[in-house]
Amino acid sequence: MPPPQEPQKIVLPGVKHVVAVASGKGGVGKSTVATNLALALQMHGRKVGLLDADIYGPSIPIMMGINEVFDPNTTAFPLERYGLKLMSMGFWVKPESAMIWRGPMVHKYLTVFLTQIPWGELDYLVIDLPPGTGDAQLTLTQTAPLSGAVIVTMPQEVSLIDARKGLEMFNQVRVPVLGIVENMSYFVGEDGKRYEIFRHGGGGRKLAEQAGVPFLGDIPIDPRVAESGDLGDPIVHKHPDSPVAKTYLELATAVSREIAAAGVPAPLPGLQL
Ligand SMILES: Nc1ncnc2c1ncn2[C@@H]1O[C@H](COP(=O)(O)OP(=O)(O)OP(=O)(O)O)[C@@H](O)[C@H]1O
Ligand SMILES: [Mg+2]
Repeated sequence: MPPPQEPQKIVLPGVKHVVAVASGKGGVGKSTVATNLALALQMHGRKVGLLDADIYGPSIPIMMGINEVFDPNTTAFPLERYGLKLMSMGFWVKPESAMIWRGPMVHKYLTVFLTQIPWGELDYLVIDLPPGTGDAQLTLTQTAPLSGAVIVTMPQEVSLIDARKGLEMFNQVRVPVLGIVENMSYFVGEDGKRYEIFRHGGGGRKLAEQAGVPFLGDIPIDPRVAESGDLGDPIVHKHPDSPVAKTYLELATAVSREIAAAGVPAPLPGLQL
């Protein structure tokens, strides 16, 4: 019997680096991190795209303040907002209806997003993954030319356990893990004191040490993060001088550094656009 064939990698000629933002667990802040990381990379002077790989639970339209559905026959994609190039299933169908879709649709539309959307020249294409290790992760790790993955966790053990699963998955499919970000790490009160709401002890940093991957930084809890996300104007854009925005700018620096250290993935023969 012939050996099983590796799926063909898609080639995105104008895109220098594709970065996936992932976590094992839902609700830890992947979409918030992906959105603000993309904006922070752009503030560092890079050309950046943001692809929402959450086909049946897209968050990017709300977070970027684009709450309408567009006719694909008359609208040019990717859309643009705050200087980022954007694509999400939520631009084609109402996020509520997208919820009922299942597996094969995920593969189909992610491939369409990667191959049919003219991303043009980009330094970074940031991909916001849904939670878990399911169809979207499989399609992207097998077919997208990923430079690496950023794993988002929260400080508590239940989140760290799932982050470990995410790490394992990327290891198995040989996608470099660029590092771990601990989101909602701490809260700085009006008294200036630091409160570790979810857990004390730097779990994200420890996990990074155990796994032998870089720790990329911790992001505080700030109600303005949630508020600006809901209002469609992410904190890095709305409050660029806030302490949280500064942590995102540092995160962007760390991610760029780790991508450079991981090296550019070798060009593979594949579906030339
Ligand atoms: N640092 C933060 N401070 C305060 N709120 C935050 C922070 N990070 C994320 N949030 C809020 O937490 C909620 C969950 O975040 P988000 O949607 O980014 O998570 P997710 O991991 O993408 O979720 P899902 O697994 O459903 O895709 C959102 O309301 C978001 O605004
Ligand atoms: Mg999300």
